[in-house]
Amino acid sequence: MLAKLQLQREDHILDASAGTGILAKEISDTFGPFDRLVLNDPAEKMLQKAKTRLAETSNVEFTNCFCEELDFKPNSFDKILCLNSFHYYIGQEKVLNLFHLFLKPGGTLYLLDWNRKGWFTIVSSLIGLLSPENINTRSADEMSKMLTKSGFSVKEKEEWSFRWWKFYFMKCMKASE
Ligand SMILES: C[S@@+](CC[C@H](N)C(=O)[O-])C[C@H]1O[C@@H](n2cnc3c(N)ncnc32)[C@H](O)[C@@H]1O
Repeated sequence: MLAKLQLQREDHILDASAGTGILAKEISDTFGPFDRLVLNDPAEKMLQKAKTRLAETSNVEFTNCFCEELDFKPNSFDKILCLNSFHYYIGQEKVLNLFHLFLKPGGTLYLLDWNRKGWFTIVSSLIGLLSPENINTRSADEMSKMLTKSGFSVKEKEEWSFRWWKFYFMKCMKASE
């Protein structure tokens, strides 16, 4: 994800499922500080760690909710980041529509997640059976269709394997007005 991001200091950025803030800290140290960086995560304890990690970083805000319940003004962000989290969302289509709404025209969604494809379909189903959390892994092709339906155009798409895991990365744009 880090290798793919193109960020500027004047960006307003939402990390939609920031976890303990590892990505947010890395991008702040590498490309920031930004004009606005919002870290969201529904897990309070993870967000607490993120607050500690980014205590010295300027212009940082924290929100503590499910993506399905995010409440920002339309056209609030230049970039939205979604790393290794999309498969947890129950309302996936709603979240994509919200991401599209919250992005400014010409804004970018960076999405990296598990790719339900080939033998990983079986692995992913097993994880879904054993996990207490919602696991709804999508294939890269399914994701492309969902993104297009929500109004995005997919500008970059990459798929790869790591051991018995499969991943995809997508860079998606909201049309400029
Ligand atoms: C595997 S962690 C990834 C965290 C972070 N993006 C990273 O890569 O370090 C998945 C995160 O998704 C969050 N999550 C689960 N369901 C969510 C939802 N509906 N909306 C937003 N975040 C959610 C979890 O709380 C968790 O922090």
